[in-house]
Amino acid sequence: MLSQNRSGVLHKFKGILFSTMSSEELLNSLDSFDAREDDVFLVSYPKSGTHWIAEVIENIPNARLTLTSPIEFGDISKFEELKMVSKQRVIPTHLSYDMLPMKIKIKQCKVIYVVRNPKDTAVSLYHYYRDNPNLPPTATWAEFLELFLRGDVVYGSWFDHVLSWEDHKNDENVLIIFYEEMKKDVSKTIKEITAFLGIHVSDSEINKIAWKTSFSEMKNNAARENYDVNHTICALTSNRNLVFRKGAVGDWINYFTSKQKRVFDELFTEKMKHSELARHFEDYS
Ligand code: A3P
Repeated sequence: MLSQNRSGVLHKFKGILFSTMSSEELLNSLDSFDAREDDVFLVSYPKSGTHWIAEVIENIPNARLTLTSPIEFGDISKFEELKMVSKQRVIPTHLSYDMLPMKIKIKQCKVIYVVRNPKDTAVSLYHYYRDNPNLPPTATWAEFLELFLRGDVVYGSWFDHVLSWEDHKNDENVLIIFYEEMKKDVSKTIKEITAFLGIHVSDSEINKIAWKTSFSEMKNNAARENYDVNHTICALTSNRNLVFRKGAVGDWINYFTSKQKRVFDELFTEKMKHSELARHFEDYS
């Protein structure tokens, strides 16, 4: 089941590329993970704004939550490490719905699923591939885009990832957050998150969280907070300096040629024709 990728930093598990920092043994054992009823999972395809939401959660006053490192980050000792967390756990992951540990589904744990329009996600992941030594080198944007469209990138196809959540978007225990909507009205999104977590937060506290989690504030703080493995949100790096690049909506326009946009849109229409989640992205393409 395990096959090495060209530069050895990725391996394939059940047909999907993962970082070698997610051991095969751990990926194979996900269903033995003992979820707690009050666990909260922060789920996303890479580069969708996971660090941003994580920072919001960490800044909620009196929340008594512990943000852990991703469930798929590390080796089989991961579950023992997570067991040691005594407070309510918020556990990030880039796993698709299908790969999430069974007990999360049985216990109907709360899940926050973050989605971002796929063109900006592709551009952001392209830069991650270029800058992050834990990802294989990529020569050009054109080459990377082909890999992205084929789902031949880490965590597989964006389309399949989002589609795996389609049937669960209205589940009571699932909150879907769109990156673009959060950019438009961050206070509204923060209120949605705190209400979903059942934590009362005043308007002035909401404003404070919004300020503390602004792109510029997080980027400025990244250098100081760097390399704390316990503060790893994405299983592809512990280096926060690699995360805060531009933080914009619509940056894709600077990368896609008109032909690339056409090919992308055709695939998007074909793959996402039955997806209500995908309709949110019509304004951003
Ligand atoms: P860009 O590469 O387009 O800048 P993730 O956290 O899932 O890895 O996603 C990273 C993307 O979210 C990056 O996108 C990053 O800049 C953006 N991001 C992180 N924090 C943000 C914030 N506070 N506001 C807006 N965008 C943010």
